[in-house]
Amino acid sequence: MPDEPVALVSVQARMPAVLFGGDYNPEQWMATHGHDEESVWREDMRLMRLAGVNVVTVGVFSWVALQPDEQTYTFGWLDRVLDLLHENGIRVCLATATAAQPAWLSAAYPDALPVAEDGLRQGHGQRQKYCPTSPDFRRLARELTRQLAERYRDHPALLLWHVSNEYYGAAGDNGSPCYCERCAARFRDWLRTRYGSLDALNRRWTTTFWSHTYTDWAQIVPPGPRTDRGIQALLLDWRRFVSDVYLECYLNEAAILRELTPGVPITTNFMGAFKPLDYFAWAPHLDIVSWDSYPRPDEDPAAVAFRHDLMRGLKGGQPFLLMEQTPSQVQWMAHNPLKRPGVMRLLSYQAVARGSDAVMFFQWRQSQGSFEKYHGAIVGHSGRDDTRVFREVAALGVELEALGNRVVGARLLARVALVFSWPNWWNVEFRPGPSNALNYLDEVQRYYRALWERNVPVDVIDPDADLSPYDLVVAPLLNMVSAVQGTAIERYVEDGGTLVTSYFSGVVDENDRVWLGGYPGPLRRTLGIWVEEFDPLLPDRSNTVVVPEGCGLPTGTYGCDLWCDLVHLEGATALARYGEDFYAGRPAITEHRLDEGRAFYVGTRVEPPLLSALVSRLLIEKGIAPPLAAPLGVEVTRRQNGEGTYTFVLNHGDAPVDVPLPTPMQDLLTDDAHQGAISLSSRQVAILVKASSESGHRASDRGQ
Ligand code: GLA
Ligand code: ZN
Repeated sequence: MPDEPVALVSVQARMPAVLFGGDYNPEQWMATHGHDEESVWREDMRLMRLAGVNVVTVGVFSWVALQPDEQTYTFGWLDRVLDLLHENGIRVCLATATAAQPAWLSAAYPDALPVAEDGLRQGHGQRQKYCPTSPDFRRLARELTRQLAERYRDHPALLLWHVSNEYYGAAGDNGSPCYCERCAARFRDWLRTRYGSLDALNRRWTTTFWSHTYTDWAQIVPPGPRTDRGIQALLLDWRRFVSDVYLECYLNEAAILRELTPGVPITTNFMGAFKPLDYFAWAPHLDIVSWDSYPRPDEDPAAVAFRHDLMRGLKGGQPFLLMEQTPSQVQWMAHNPLKRPGVMRLLSYQAVARGSDAVMFFQWRQSQGSFEKYHGAIVGHSGRDDTRVFREVAALGVELEALGNRVVGARLLARVALVFSWPNWWNVEFRPGPSNALNYLDEVQRYYRALWERNVPVDVIDPDADLSPYDLVVAPLLNMVSAVQGTAIERYVEDGGTLVTSYFSGVVDENDRVWLGGYPGPLRRTLGIWVEEFDPLLPDRSNTVVVPEGCGLPTGTYGCDLWCDLVHLEGATALARYGEDFYAGRPAITEHRLDEGRAFYVGTRVEPPLLSALVSRLLIEKGIAPPLAAPLGVEVTRRQNGEGTYTFVLNHGDAPVDVPLPTPMQDLLTDDAHQGAISLSSRQVAILVKASSESGHRASDRGQ
């Protein structure tokens, strides 16, 4: 990986307000395409001002509009658009425009197109469809980036850079990276750097198995249907390499921006829990994390909250930007219902409540044709400003304008950490594995949900992060644990921390080599157990977990399924035991005291009420309380900065709720004072501050 010093540049310092706006594609409305561009753009400006838009993302898919052939650049239209935006007080998140290469590029450099897993070179089309190691693609992307940076570096509208778009996005997790000869060679170079010698690689990859030992680097090929899917360590490193090689594409452009515009922050839009890219490895190279949130219409708000927390966790809790969400509907799911009135606002505030300093949309104006013509937009095909969607967006814009810079830059302070790891995710879900039903995200989100329900702030951290700031570390299904990570976890517990981990954890190292001498390898001393065997259950089977009196969990018999570890106690005590099968009576949940700390092991997938009870017990013992005690389904978070403490209350339910208030509070959104309790109707939101210091002043009164 090219090692580039990262100078952190803050968006917040440059624009002290919640960013509000979205993707703007003025090139779709140009005269060359039969539109009266001046009048459409002018109308855009009027509507943007009406909606309280203060930033738009421009140029994401403008490559061909900016460079119709290799020798010609056509920046005139973009000059005009940026000037217009500036005249209207709107800042620009300027894209490097390299997410979709022009047809001329693919035609001139056919080997810039990717090769699929089956070895066939792909044709031009879609977007993000290029070979990530293509020198021609990279050179042309650099040249365009340089042109943009040189031309607009001093443009007063320029706020931040948006490099490419949703890396790897077009292929998705069902797609594939490039399998061309050049990418294969780059993979071998990457391996050489990582392992130094072929001997070391052979050892770490356990290649004596099935006579896989390599005697020449050239024998190593990317894993594919026609090649080698037999070595899990190879699959793992291929995934690492692919994430790194797309990161190189990002750096290919970001380095130029750093050089030419060192004061302008740089981002690229992530996709939440997106499996192919290890965003923890990417995040240090971004000044600010931004991401695109497209929850399923019926998705649990806890799942959305998890993704916000994951994105906030990528840069150690630094606020992020909600770069895209649809104001109404998408067009790419099997069914695309509208967001009901109030839902867009609720989801927007949920993002802000969990650390976003932006509420941005895809897209400003709905396209007339092609792939996304039915995707929701702030301005629909009617072009009117009296639609439900436009009105809801504009009302939110006005409200955020009034909120001003209050919450911008404010942090969420967490005493609980949830460990999340991309390589572990990949590894757990390689098949064949002990169970096809193993699902890392699902397991992590079960634990997350138990914390979310209690409105306890959670930092999502990677397993190499410093654990010491946290009172409680939850690391579900942490199958892959390196020696270094094992030692760090042990030290954390010895020093007084509380750890919770679950089944199949600590079994392999970073190369998927099993830790010998008994599972859970490097966590065995910490947990005080030995897992002799694991029993992945058939899909229609289950077991029970029996909690006896006096172990700090509610007594009873609970369901469990998916997986049962057969645990021996080696210093730990059993909090619960299996109820059935030949291992009935053996420990299922254990607790171990190690010096100052404690470590809990949940050896099976227990039903949510028991997990919830365990989490609840630990939070009580640690004295970790939510900002406000609220009924289930009401999300509460707290953001703090030097100036104040902002308590967000969001009612996700269908019925009105009363949330008790220990002290008089004032709602910044309505200016109303509340004493004793605040009533929130369905989908309503409040941002509360202590009444005494704030009474009678709306956010807008403070001036900026
Ligand atoms: C992604 C992309 C956008 C657009 C939306 C549609 O987030 O970044 O360009 O395609 O999806 O939902
Ligand atoms: Zn390639």
